[in-house]
Amino acid sequence: MTEYRLGPPLITAERIQARVQELAEVISRDYAGKNLLLICVLKGAAIFWADLSRALRIPCQSDFVAMETYGDATLPLSEPRFTKAASVSLLGRDVLIVEDIIDTGHTATHLRKILQAQEARSVALCTLLNKVERREGAIPIQYCGFVIPDAFVVGYGLDYAQQYRHLPHIATLEAVPPTEVGGSA
Ligand code: IMP
Ligand code: MG
Repeated sequence: MTEYRLGPPLITAERIQARVQELAEVISRDYAGKNLLLICVLKGAAIFWADLSRALRIPCQSDFVAMETYGDATLPLSEPRFTKAASVSLLGRDVLIVEDIIDTGHTATHLRKILQAQEARSVALCTLLNKVERREGAIPIQYCGFVIPDAFVVGYGLDYAQQYRHLPHIATLEAVPPTEVGGSA
């Protein structure tokens, strides 16, 4: 079985913090006078949401959803479903989905559809990371932190087997070469 280890930093904590401030500035301008509801997609977006929401200069409310995606590359993808649905009414709200990463785009596309059906006034998407190369269908992203290459990344909320979420930066995860597996190097 392949073993993985933490690779080099891809985005430093300083760059993330600077970009989050920029995004918060634009969102504060765009949503001034509106009825903003942040929907944080657990668990990956929790840290991004915490920093982004605290940098906003406008009133807003927050809620949390969790999604479960079934299927892998060898199986047809079934629809992602909620393990935790929104608990406040979306009626007439200007909803901003806060995501950690858009990969194939299936989760966010489905989530947007569900939230729109709950009669939100508007539904937009803010993601920290965007793996454009992996997209399997067009998805409009209104706010994006960083476009990244097709690599598995962890840190700043993103995990591998629930590990590495606490890192203040984003790093790639790399496969340990078979010659080093089990060794102390
Ligand atoms: P999508 O539905 O393919 O866009 O993927 C959505 C979910 O897959 C994300 O919200 C993450 O939870 C997970 N994911 C995709 N790429 C990565 C990655 O590089 N690191 C950690 N999680 C990832
Ligand atoms: Mg996610």
